Amino acid sequence: MCGIIAAASNRNVGKLLVQGLHKMEYRGYDSAGIALHQIDKIAHLRTLGKVNLLEEKMIAEKPKSKLGIAHTRWATHGEPSEENAHPHKSNERVYIVHNGIIENYLDLKEFLKKEGYTFSSQTDSELIAHMLEYFLNKGNSMLDSMYLTKEKLEGAYAIAAIDKEDDKNVMIARSKSPLLIGVGVDEFLAASDPLAIGQLTNEFVFLEDGDVAELSSESYTIYDAEKTEVQREVTQIDISSQSTSKGDYKHFMEKEIYEQPDAILNTIDGRVGGEDVLDNIFGLGSSEIFEKVKRIQIVACGTSLHAGRVAANWFSSISELPTQTDYASEYRYRNPHVDEDSLLVTISQSGETADTLAALRYAKEKNYLSTLCICNVPTSSLARESDYSIFTNAGPEIGVASTKAFTTQLAALMLLALSLAKSRKINPKLRTRVITALRSLPDTIQETLKLKDTILEIAPEIANKDNALFLGRGIFYPIAKEGALKLKEISYIHAEAYPAGELKHGPLALIDEEMPVIALAPESEIAEKLVSNLEEVKARGGTIYVFADPSITMDLKSGKLINMPKCDFLLTPIIYTIPLQILSYEVALLRGTDIDQPRNLAKSVTVE
Ligand code: M6R
Repeated sequence: MCGIIAAASNRNVGKLLVQGLHKMEYRGYDSAGIALHQIDKIAHLRTLGKVNLLEEKMIAEKPKSKLGIAHTRWATHGEPSEENAHPHKSNERVYIVHNGIIENYLDLKEFLKKEGYTFSSQTDSELIAHMLEYFLNKGNSMLDSMYLTKEKLEGAYAIAAIDKEDDKNVMIARSKSPLLIGVGVDEFLAASDPLAIGQLTNEFVFLEDGDVAELSSESYTIYDAEKTEVQREVTQIDISSQSTSKGDYKHFMEKEIYEQPDAILNTIDGRVGGEDVLDNIFGLGSSEIFEKVKRIQIVACGTSLHAGRVAANWFSSISELPTQTDYASEYRYRNPHVDEDSLLVTISQSGETADTLAALRYAKEKNYLSTLCICNVPTSSLARESDYSIFTNAGPEIGVASTKAFTTQLAALMLLALSLAKSRKINPKLRTRVITALRSLPDTIQETLKLKDTILEIAPEIANKDNALFLGRGIFYPIAKEGALKLKEISYIHAEAYPAGELKHGPLALIDEEMPVIALAPESEIAEKLVSNLEEVKARGGTIYVFADPSITMDLKSGKLINMPKCDFLLTPIIYTIPLQILSYEVALLRGTDIDQPRNLAKSVTVE
C-alpha cells in the first residue's frame, strides 16, 4: 500500500504534492511526509496521522521548492510513528519514498550497517536511501546508483528519490508496485495512482516492471530493466471529470451506497441488447474463446472474493461450468492442478491488489486457456496484464469498505455467466429472463434503499453489542459473509457468517441475548429449512433480524422481520446486499468510528 508522489516543476510544488497525498490517502493513512529540495538543503517534514496534519505543518513552515517527493503510509515494517514515516534519508543527502516491501531487508541492513550507515527507523524502506548514497559515494551517477540498488532489492517497490547535490531531477523506479508519470505543462510528475495528479494533467505514462525514469521540469527519460532508453505509450485519461467529492453526504461510503442504482446502470449499459448479452463485451475474440471454456477458476480477495463465490453459483446454473474459487493469497500455495480449457477469472475493484496480481502472474505460467479480469480501474496492472477484461464502470470508490464496487462486480459477473452460456449455446430462455431482470435492477435497488428508515430502528440495538452472526444459505452464504465483513470493517464489531444449516454443528453455543443474528431469507426451495434454523436460534433466546421475501412469515420473540422488494431469484444476492451495507454504515455512525478510513486498513492492498 502507501501512496507516493513526486514533482519536478517550474513552480512551487509543496501544495500540489500535499493535494496529491490527499487523493491517495485511501492507500494508507498512518503517517505522511514530504521532502522538498531547496538548493542548499532539503526541507523534511513528517507527521504521525493523516495528511491534514502534514498540511498544517506545511502551512506553518511554508517551505518553497520546485522539486519534491511525498508519501502517505500504511505501516508494514515498524509501527506508525514519525520516525517510520517517509521520506527516509541518508546523511541529509538522499531522500526517498517507497511503496512495497523489500523482502531481503534484514540482509541489506546488515550490509549497510557494516559500511557505517546508521538507521533511524524500523522500516524496510530506509535502506533504499542508504544504498543509493552508498553507490553515489562510489562515484556513480544517480541513474547508475538506482540500477545498482535495484540489483540488490528483492520484493516489490515503487521508489522516488532526490539527491541534495541535484536540484533538477527526481529518479523513480518500479518493480511490481504501480507507478506512473504525469505529463504536465512545464512540469513532470510521478505517482502511485493517476487520481493523485489527475487535477494537473490528463496524460499519463504507465511504467513497466523494471523501469527506471528520470524526471525534470523539462523532460522525462525512461529506461527499461536492461537500462536501455525506451518510449512508453502516453495514455489520455480525464480524471478531473470523475467525481471524488462527498457532495451532500457525510461519508464517501454513504454516497457510494446511494450511487448504486446509477453504478449498476453503467455496468450493464452498452453490454446488453434486445434479449441477450452482446458479443465480445470482454474484448475482441472473447466470445470465441468462451466456446472452448470447460472450467473456471476464480481468484480474488475480501469483498471481491465474495462476489466470486456468488458468481460460482451462476457459472454452474447459467453457464453449466464447474467453478472453483480461491483466496488469491492462498491460490499459489496449494499447487493447483489446472485442467485443459480452464479460464482464470480475477476480480478486483482496484486492479492493484498484490495477492490477486501475484495469483494472475502465477496462473499465466500454467496452462490456462485464457485470463480475464473484472475490474473497476481500466488503467490498473490487473487490466493491463489480463487477456480479457470488463470494467465495472462504478466510478471511483473512495470509502475503504467496498459497496458499489461489489454490486457492480456482481452485475459484471452475471454478464460473464450469460456470455459464457451464449457462446456455449445453452439456456436461451433463462438468458432472456435474466436480461429482463438486469434491466430493472437499478429500480429495484432504488426501492431497496428506501429500507433505510426501518434499518435506523434496528441499528442502535446492534451498535451496543460486541458480536454479531450473519446467516445465509446457498448463494446467500457469500452475501452473509459480505455483511459480516462490512460490519467488522467499519464498526469494529466482531461478526462472523455461517451457512444457516451449520449453526447446530457448533456456533449455536454462542447464542444468547447478547448475540444478534442477522439472517437472509429470500424465497427459495430451502426457505423453510432456513426458517427452521432460525427457530433454533429463537428457542435459545437469540434476537433475530431477518431480511426476508414477503412470502416468509415468522413469529419473532425479539428482533424484526424486514420485507425485501421482489426480484428475479438469480439477482436477489445483489438486492439483499444493500440493507447489510446500510446497516453497517448506520451502526458505525452510531459508534463514531472513522467510516471511510477505518483503523489499520487501506483501500488498495498493494503488499502481499
Ligand atoms: O481492490 P480489490 O477488490 O482487489 O480489494 C480486495 C479487498 O482488499 C477488498 O475487497 C477489501 O476486502 C474491502 N476493504 C472490503 O470492503
